[in-house]
Amino acid sequence: MAENLAALLEQRFGASVDVPPELARLDELVHAAAHRSDRAFTDDPVPSTWTETLLACALSAPAKSDLQQVSIVHVEDTAKRAAVAALVPTLDWLPSAPLLLIFCGDSRRIRRICALRERPFANDHLDAMFNASVDAALVMMNFIRVARAAGLGCCPISMVRDQATALADLLELPDGVFPVAGMAAGFPAAPVAISPRLPLSLTVHTDRYDDSHLEAAVDAYDERRRAVQPIADEQQRDTQRFGAQEKYGWSEDKARQVSRPQRADFGRYLREHGFRLD
Ligand SMILES: Cc1cc2nc3c(=O)[nH]c(=O)nc-3n(C[C@H](O)[C@H](O)[C@H](O)COP(=O)(O)O)c2cc1C
Repeated sequence: MAENLAALLEQRFGASVDVPPELARLDELVHAAAHRSDRAFTDDPVPSTWTETLLACALSAPAKSDLQQVSIVHVEDTAKRAAVAALVPTLDWLPSAPLLLIFCGDSRRIRRICALRERPFANDHLDAMFNASVDAALVMMNFIRVARAAGLGCCPISMVRDQATALADLLELPDGVFPVAGMAAGFPAAPVAISPRLPLSLTVHTDRYDDSHLEAAVDAYDERRRAVQPIADEQQRDTQRFGAQEKYGWSEDKARQVSRPQRADFGRYLREHGFRLD
């Protein structure tokens, strides 16, 4: 079904975006604006003949300094897939996702190339890890985009890093290669609603950074989001610690989420697996 770009953006941002007519019908823009994460899939397998093409398209993303620091593990083996899914038991939809990929930052390859060419690798600092992470994120986004064009839905899964060591053991990730996120994909079981984003006034700045209106903008965003995507009472986080709230919204939910440490050991994991992170 064709979707209207201006209507999609209004749904997303809660305010009209002045879409020039020459852009309004460009499929690429409509597809970007229509993005959704899918977490429920039909039983139909993703044709095995598709994987290589989709991954080749995804890996056509730009790469920092052309260093090409991404590796993707396609988890095909049934037992291994079950073992990866078991690392994130809260995602009850993951075991039945037809396709599972793990996108990794890969700093090992360039280090091996330095050794092969007998040149020093003089960049073992935070930036090396950061660049590989950005490359992996771009490839992931490209994968989401091309998979969607093929009729698939996707959901990235950073929760696979909750047990980074166990995941690395399962997939035999060597030092220098680290998981950025998993990706589940399959044919969507049902249409998913668009998830509203913060207003452009908070995320786009002209000439200088300005968040002086943050409080009012976040309050308004909470209201808008509550109207279309309310959080059920039983899904309020950490009520034992913070109590239940009548007007529980996105900002309260996210503040509660980050009030507990999550993956605080990932830096240590990276340091133990080939990164200095200075
Ligand atoms: C890097 C990354 C990691 C993510 N990890 C998870 C995850 O572990 N579990 C999950 O259910 N969704 C995950 N998501 C999906 C986000 O929750 C989702 O993008 C967000 O709620 C906005 O919804 P939308 O993608 O439908 O617009 C992840 C997204 C990104 C970009």
